[in-house]
Amino acid sequence: METLHKPVLLNEVLEHLNPRAGQNFIDCTLGGGGHTTAILNKVITGGKVLAIDLDKEAIKNYESRIKNQELRKNLVLVNDNFANLEKIVAEHNFSSVDGIIVDFGFSSDQIENSERGFSFLRDGPLDMRYNGCRTSDVRCRKELTAEDIINKWSEKELETIFMEYGEEWMAGKITSRIIEERKRKLIKTTAQLVEIIEKVKYRRGKISPATKVFQALRIAVNNELGNIKNFLPQAVKVLSPGGILAVISFHSLEDRIVKYFFKSIALNRHTCRAGRTPSVATDGVPAEGKGMIKIINKKVIKPEYREIRENSRARSAKLRVIEKI
Ligand SMILES: C[S@@+](CC[C@H](N)C(=O)[O-])C[C@H]1O[C@@H](n2cnc3c(N)ncnc32)[C@H](O)[C@@H]1O
Repeated sequence: METLHKPVLLNEVLEHLNPRAGQNFIDCTLGGGGHTTAILNKVITGGKVLAIDLDKEAIKNYESRIKNQELRKNLVLVNDNFANLEKIVAEHNFSSVDGIIVDFGFSSDQIENSERGFSFLRDGPLDMRYNGCRTSDVRCRKELTAEDIINKWSEKELETIFMEYGEEWMAGKITSRIIEERKRKLIKTTAQLVEIIEKVKYRRGKISPATKVFQALRIAVNNELGNIKNFLPQAVKVLSPGGILAVISFHSLEDRIVKYFFKSIALNRHTCRAGRTPSVATDGVPAEGKGMIKIINKKVIKPEYREIRENSRARSAKLRVIEKI
């Protein structure tokens, strides 16, 4: 299957990773394979890319597109969670890592597929699992879905995730309405949920009133912030000295974790006027290995206007880059 996903900030990522023949890279979020393919083309011959995705379909689709190409020999595909990076690298004997790219969130292939339940624009089951598999596999059916959260979590839990993960200022009202509606009938589809939200929150301009609740559910279903916190220290550990880590985030909750983690272990973090280094909030990520990295871009890198015009998904992307010392 062809991909609908356009890689975000591709030129900027390549400029900073600077992949060359014979080098080894890890793409922690394969998605449609845009970043992976571009890096693979630069590292052959002799180099390799280890590409990871939690979504079996992303792996299967990319595999089918690349299987007859020369590049396949230089690619290791792994269906796993980037929060297990050290284990994955050890299992695949992947050493001398010159660079890592991670591009958080969902791909266009996932959001455009109504069966996955990520989109408030398409009716489908309230699922939202990146590793969701629509099979009769019992293990798969046991995993948490957005439907479980909406129908089983307490009022307090729902309100908390809508506030914390969605930064939804109408969290209380939306939650009360959900609780009322679910007593009458299970809420099983994205369209049902959108309809409930629209009863209490009116549309202003182009942005759907359901945007923030959907973001909150996706983060909760996939433990997205927890995965990022587990991933970052492992990424620094597996990089070789001089290796580059490039991180693309799409909202302030993700970017804040990345920013504070980098600051907490950076050699070149800003010093106070008195010459002492300020204490840095690490946002729950263990700040082991202080002085292990150099922050490459002090100011976050954003897409140019031209990219945003061609790919509206790029509008909220932010790139941060560090080098392991
Ligand atoms: C924005 S897309 C990546 C797009 C890719 N860079 C490209 O150019 O096509 C994000 C991908 O990360 C995957 N993903 C999300 N959380 C993950 C995790 N914890 N571990 C591994 N993959 C994850 C999603 O399944 C999705 O395919």
